[in-house]
Amino acid sequence: MHIHRYERAWMIFGVAMLVVFLVLLAVAAISNDVVPPSGMQQIDPRAVARTPPFDKPGLRRLPDGSYEAYYVARVFSFDPSVLTIPVGAKVTFYVTSTDVVHGFFIPGTDINMMVIPGWVNTETHVFRRPGEYLLICHEYCGIGHQNMFGKIEVAKV
Ligand code: CUA
Repeated sequence: MHIHRYERAWMIFGVAMLVVFLVLLAVAAISNDVVPPSGMQQIDPRAVARTPPFDKPGLRRLPDGSYEAYYVARVFSFDPSVLTIPVGAKVTFYVTSTDVVHGFFIPGTDINMMVIPGWVNTETHVFRRPGEYLLICHEYCGIGHQNMFGKIEVAKV
């Protein structure tokens, strides 16, 4: 097959640029010691079960009336699997994983996180609408990924 020499030059240029950019990305990431966003809390993924407050996952009421929800993700479930929240509650979720990367997504809200072992991810949402919310893992985490979900009940109290 004949390839015009200009065509060949462009192909070599294109591939060379790809390699250059990939190498630059790797060099930048390694030399800057790139990790998840700054300010994220770290945790020993093997010691989650005995690290407060993750040793007792669930909902906590703060003195100002808002809530904190501590979640542990593992193959293939969330702990707690069901959480009941009063309508109008402002809830800050703290989520970590004991094994692999999971997702933490509550459709109908702005809660959409990646759960990374060794790190605590956090997001806040105000639950104004009563009803049942689904909590799903939306990062492929293994053979039982599709069974990894939880439920959040927002109820009038
Ligand atoms: Cu956990 Cu998918």
